[in-house]
Amino acid sequence: MNPQIIQLPKIEDPRGNLSIIEEERNIPFKIERTYWIYDVPGGQTRGGHAFKEQQEFIVALSGSFNVLVDDGNKKQIFSLNRSYYGLFIPAGLWRQMDNFSTNSLALVLSSTHFNAEDYIYDYSKFLNFRKYEK
Ligand code: TYD
Repeated sequence: MNPQIIQLPKIEDPRGNLSIIEEERNIPFKIERTYWIYDVPGGQTRGGHAFKEQQEFIVALSGSFNVLVDDGNKKQIFSLNRSYYGLFIPAGLWRQMDNFSTNSLALVLSSTHFNAEDYIYDYSKFLNFRKYEK
């Protein structure tokens, strides 16, 4: 699968809208972990690494930010700024988040428990991983 924006159900209501994520229905994996990124000072960057196994789904629950996804060949930038869609990132891709607006809140659903061994922090190692291990 490619990295892609996935639209989520949006139940519109004069009392306020509601959106939903069900594992293996709205997103193509089972959720083992949820974390969120918040209070990001202006100009800061998050990510800047790849995961060997972990798949992710990222939603801008509040505010906006960009996610750069790189497969070693092609770089794509996705702007997230609504709470009724998110970005699915398959395993094995480099990703970085930046351009966070004030008070932005990034919800990240992950297919794995935290595993420091799953990270690739070095870009040249990532290119090697794409070439030989994926
Ligand atoms: P990291 O994944 O590098 O953050 P980001 O990619 O958003 O910039 O994580 C930052 C630190 O938090 C790092 O020391 C690992 C730790 N961490 C956990 O202990 N558990 C987790 O589930 C996550 C996502 C991070």
